[in-house]
Amino acid sequence: MVMYRFLGFFILTGLILSGARFYADGLRMEYYIMRCPMADNIVKSTVNNAFRSDPSLAAGLLRMHFHDCFVEGCDGSILIDSTKDNTAEKDSPANLSLRGYEVIDDIKEQLEDQCPGVVSCADILAMAARDAVFFAGGPYYEIPKGRKDGRRSKIEDTIRLPAPFLNSTELIRLFGQRGFNAQEMVALSGAHTLGVARCSSFKNRLKNFDSTNDVDPALDSNFAKTLQNTCSAGDKTEVAFDATSNSFDNAYYNALQRKAGLLTSDQTLFANPRTRNIVNAYAMNQAMFFLDFNPAMVKMGLLDVKEGNNGEVRQDCRKIN
Ligand code: HEM
Ligand SMILES: *[C@@H]1O[C@H](CO)[C@@H](O)[C@H](O)[C@H]1NC(C)=O
Ligand SMILES: *[C@@H]1O[C@H](CO)[C@@H](O)[C@H](O)[C@H]1NC(C)=O
Repeated sequence: MVMYRFLGFFILTGLILSGARFYADGLRMEYYIMRCPMADNIVKSTVNNAFRSDPSLAAGLLRMHFHDCFVEGCDGSILIDSTKDNTAEKDSPANLSLRGYEVIDDIKEQLEDQCPGVVSCADILAMAARDAVFFAGGPYYEIPKGRKDGRRSKIEDTIRLPAPFLNSTELIRLFGQRGFNAQEMVALSGAHTLGVARCSSFKNRLKNFDSTNDVDPALDSNFAKTLQNTCSAGDKTEVAFDATSNSFDNAYYNALQRKAGLLTSDQTLFANPRTRNIVNAYAMNQAMFFLDFNPAMVKMGLLDVKEGNNGEVRQDCRKIN
């Protein structure tokens, strides 16, 4: 009895706090409150455990959510395995080094135990990315839920992902096509405060790698030499985006100010006067970065979401039902 009253109170405050807001496509903050009340906790505790055993997984989960949303919408399509008749998104060269799939599988298994057929893989991924940011020391944001899982995952769709050699103008245009302004694009790029890139992703900026044979002038020359050395070990060598690759902070923007951004698409944000002020503001004021990052992530998580019969709740995140 006491427990039920407690639950009632919990639901009520949940509704009040979220203002019972409805989002496009029928998504709601409290979507699982009745359907699967443990959903949030299971995701949180599993991501927390994963982060404790391997902090670099936070980067993996965050990036996976981005790749999911930018290709075919946030519909869990990135999680689908290829079959003999279909080469899936994850087998595109752009998947390069995506990781964290086992964390999603682990969460899905627990949720299928608790409330079979209820929590979509797309929602799991969106929640896991949110919690990864938080456990890595970043901000916390609430997200609407109720996404359905898509039934399409094709290697050719990954063409929609931004390439690492794009300049700021091109990034503004590309993110603009998905409804983001320049400031939101710079804030989202701040996700590169977590994780690493392989030399293959930025060797275009180093000597002897492209036809011009010049080092990218936007790159600090000492840093370029260090990268040159590191990358002589091969294309797969990993380099951290900033000095604190497992902490979600604003060190990424400080690195850009020192011309020590890793990808062309990172450094260009400082090189271009249109975005430089935003980089400077975030470098100076981490709270401002967090304040802008939150709503930009919520928005990213709503890209082309599927609802109702446009999708399903996958039983296994790797396979269409
Ligand atoms: C602005 C356009 C973007 C480009 C061109 C881009 C490109 C890349 C590339 C090339 C890598 C390294 C892959 C590798 O070499 O292994 C990477 C890593 C990463 N990206 Fe982005 N990205 C962009 C935006 C974003 C956004 C919006 C997010 C998330 C909100 C994100 C999250 C990440 C994370 C966390 C990593 C590190 C992954 C790890 O360590 O496993 N990126 N990105
Ligand atoms: C990513 O794609 C490559 C092929 O381009 C494939 O060999 C690799 O297994 C894929 N990685 C994951 C994690 O699926
Ligand atoms: C950005 O790239 C586009 C296309 O390659 C090019 O036309 C433009 O001049 C570049 N802008 C800057 C500022 O480098």
